[in-house]
Amino acid sequence: MALQAAATAVTAVLLTMLIQVSETTETCFCELRNLGNTFPDEKLQNVKSGATSCTQKITSEQISEIDVLLDQLHYRLLQLEGDIRVLEIEDDGDLFGAISLRIIEIELAEIMDLFVKLNTTNTVQQRLSANTAAQLVNLKSEMELLEKFDRTKVVLEKEKNKRLKRDLKDCEAKSEVTIAPPTITVPGNCPYGHLLNVTGPTSYITTQYGTSYPYGAWGRDPKPALGKEDWYFLVALTSSSVYANYVREYSSYSALILGVSAGDVTIASSNPTTNTVQGPNAVLYGDALYYNCYNSPSVCRFNMSARTVSTVALPAAAYNNKFSFCHLEACYIYTDIDMATDESGVWAVYSTPQNFGNVVLSKVEVDGGLTLGRTWNTSLHKRTATNTFMACGVLYGTRYVDKQNEEVFYSFDTVTGQERFDLGLRIKKTSTNVQSLNYNPRDRMLYMYSDSYVLAYQVTFD
Ligand SMILES: *[C@@H]1O[C@H](CO)[C@@H](O)[C@H](O)[C@H]1NC(C)=O
Ligand SMILES: *[C@@H]1O[C@H](CO)[C@@H](O)[C@H](O)[C@H]1NC(C)=O
Ligand SMILES: *[C@@H]1O[C@H](CO)[C@@H](O)[C@H](O)[C@H]1NC(C)=O
Ligand SMILES: *[C@@H]1O[C@H](CO)[C@@H](O)[C@H](O)[C@H]1NC(C)=O
Repeated sequence: MALQAAATAVTAVLLTMLIQVSETTETCFCELRNLGNTFPDEKLQNVKSGATSCTQKITSEQISEIDVLLDQLHYRLLQLEGDIRVLEIEDDGDLFGAISLRIIEIELAEIMDLFVKLNTTNTVQQRLSANTAAQLVNLKSEMELLEKFDRTKVVLEKEKNKRLKRDLKDCEAKSEVTIAPPTITVPGNCPYGHLLNVTGPTSYITTQYGTSYPYGAWGRDPKPALGKEDWYFLVALTSSSVYANYVREYSSYSALILGVSAGDVTIASSNPTTNTVQGPNAVLYGDALYYNCYNSPSVCRFNMSARTVSTVALPAAAYNNKFSFCHLEACYIYTDIDMATDESGVWAVYSTPQNFGNVVLSKVEVDGGLTLGRTWNTSLHKRTATNTFMACGVLYGTRYVDKQNEEVFYSFDTVTGQERFDLGLRIKKTSTNVQSLNYNPRDRMLYMYSDSYVLAYQVTFD
């Protein structure tokens, strides 16, 4: 598609830098120099205002199909603008912002896709959108012109560099294996292949708290204690939508619907204090709650039976709202550290300034003491995702599409190191915001907490 070329041009042009890679057998360094930001932002603004005025005209004509398309186009342009803003912030020093470029590339492709649909929907509309069409065509040719300035092929170099780094890492990992074979389950070593679809929700209810607490987490323990196989847990952030000091349990799904709890297990006497839950992304695994503990870049494990807390620090992890999950209008508070479960156990998803606010993934080893396992740097910018979950050793990232839809757009395979930004799997919502999302490998369901509603989805693999 012609747009693909245009998008590639943007990618290259935005990062007009000199890159120098020198390799020896052991070292690899890059010198990056920004020669200026030549993205035709002004033109983009024109496109946006063109789309907005189209939306206004059409809405008054009550043509719903076109309305929906324009609405999507409008949101996409807003998102693109926001991401470009993030990119500019990242790009102002020595920071390397190529990550968001790939998101922008995908967004441009999607915008063009929407536009083509829009263009073919209605002949009346074609007159109205002519202005926007002209601008898009202009933008495209502008990008093609700018492409000629790309002599350095930065993106290609970056990809090569990344592959080298991964090969090195794999090599290191292999050599470690020969020294001390790991006894843990290998992540990603999973029989069901890749994520194909997310269907549902099969459940959407409010809890016994009603709509009092917009932030929280719920779900089922993938490795339940004996006798708790059918139980559900609920952690509502009862203090300022930030903190919680107890876990509420239900002995069945109907008990949850009816609001008849099996009781609360208290983590700390007051709220907030040392060891209270901070942020909504907590998970239950092996009858212990894993969460970001109060005012610290650490994972806490609360043993539900012994009622004791153990802690492990996430080195250099951002916390207290430095790198939260975000969408167009806002960020979700205190979502710096997202705990996740999958077939191989417990994971921590967070970010570090060293990785430029991009997601860092760590395996959390839970047998015996609480320790950190292997860590991966990804190129998913934390603020461009609304949440993440793990399934079969693969990290998935979601983003906001509109009030009714969320989208699984990103994946990172911990086995191959492969990253994708183009999954395009829709998740239907009943409410706008997603405060927490986690996968349970036992029933292969996704559990979502959304503006006080608790939702569950069936996940299918190929
Ligand atoms: C939109 O449709 C018109 C008429 O069919 C066509 O000439 C034009 O190239 C189309 N524009 C885009 C961007 O697809
Ligand atoms: C995914 O699920 C939706 C609705 O639940 C369905 O319409 C669609 O065909 C499914 N897609 C695939 C690839 O199975
Ligand atoms: C929780 O405590 C119980 C009792 O001390 C112990 O048997 C169990 O292994 C602990 N669970 C975890 C996950 O540490
Ligand atoms: C992640 O990136 C940081 C900064 O470049 C580096 O210090 C760290 O070693 C990397 N971690 C891994 C696991 O590659």
